[in-house]
Amino acid sequence: MRARVRWGIVGTGGIARRTVGDLQLCDTVELVGICSRDKDRADQFASEHSIPFASADFDAFCASGQVDAVYVGIPHGLHFDYAARALRAGVHVVCEKPLTMTSAEAEELHRLSRENGAFLMEAMWMKFTPAFRAVTEILGSGTIGEPRLIQAGAGFPVPPDGPARYWVAELGGGALYDLGVYTIALAHAVLGTPDQVIAVGKMRDDGVDEQVAYTLRYDSGAVAQLTNSLTAFIPPGGWIGGTRGSITVGEPLFAPRSLRVVTGQPPAPPTVEELDFDQEGAGYVPMFRAASEAILRGDVEHPIHPVSATVAVLQILERVRAELVEARDRAGTGGQLGALSRPGP
Ligand SMILES: NC(=O)c1ccc[n+]([C@@H]2O[C@H](COP(=O)([O-])OP(=O)(O)OC[C@H]3O[C@@H](n4cnc5c(N)ncnc54)[C@H](OP(=O)(O)O)[C@@H]3O)[C@@H](O)[C@H]2O)c1
Repeated sequence: MRARVRWGIVGTGGIARRTVGDLQLCDTVELVGICSRDKDRADQFASEHSIPFASADFDAFCASGQVDAVYVGIPHGLHFDYAARALRAGVHVVCEKPLTMTSAEAEELHRLSRENGAFLMEAMWMKFTPAFRAVTEILGSGTIGEPRLIQAGAGFPVPPDGPARYWVAELGGGALYDLGVYTIALAHAVLGTPDQVIAVGKMRDDGVDEQVAYTLRYDSGAVAQLTNSLTAFIPPGGWIGGTRGSITVGEPLFAPRSLRVVTGQPPAPPTVEELDFDQEGAGYVPMFRAASEAILRGDVEHPIHPVSATVAVLQILERVRAELVEARDRAGTGGQLGALSRPGP
């Protein structure tokens, strides 16, 4: 058995540059390849980061026998095609979020992963951070009782002429695809699949949502209130309220480095515990290490973020989007009205 997985990065853009150093920090990773649409860009990236194999042909890259696993860092609308081609070639895949544009596509990738014995995981780095692992442990220990309420958000304004992937529908534009995956993943990890979804926001005619506030309601009475925006700042954080206490997740939600745990029944004064966590590299190291270890074990998915969780999150995201589309179409005003609103007389 190899001691290291031979990884190749796909794409030479923003996320590739943020994660390349973290891949090189993992002792179970050997970063051997970079694939771009453009050979000069691949060569440049390879020389900047001492990567031996540069390619501008993705299928040849996967068939080369030099790369065991690819990390797909290209706009979301292209994920399904690239991940499917890698899996069919028997190459393991960690693909940026969201894994695909639809839950049906994620299910198809899951099938291809099992059929070809290749590992598949969405790059949900948040769930692998020490702070998020601690949230899971605190919830499991019952310290804050039963979780009943979650509030979380993430947003930042992207100019209309900003990077195309935010605003072009075919590339996966919209606040939900870019940021909702995190807030929904948090709610799903704590509360599971909701019984009701209510959403208000702005969905453009081309299917790109500018911003959205949504409520996930559970028959148990639990509720998650979530917000995402590409037109306004929303502090990227959140909290979980339980029957005996609360956990506030430090910003940024995607890679928290602190937690505030408050417990105690009034009128007794609350007990406040501040927890701080170290970050390895830029925060992606625990995810890449976990994926590599799973691949070396011969696993085709990871228990911390199995493909079923990706599918479940995408199904919730689709329900939120459907609410916005319905409100837009009912109002006929570009989606200004909320899902539960009715046009006036
Ligand atoms: N986890 C995180 O913290 C985080 C942060 C930012 C983004 N992301 C995710 O990473 C992904 C990429 O985001 P990004 O900001 O890196 O995007 P980006 O810079 O716009 O694009 C990344 C690269 O994708 C390749 N690409 C662009 N258009 C393509 C096309 N039509 N066909 C094939 N390749 C194409 C390009 O590489 P070449 O020119 O070399 O082919 C480009 O440099 C997204 O899914 C996003 O959600 C994650």
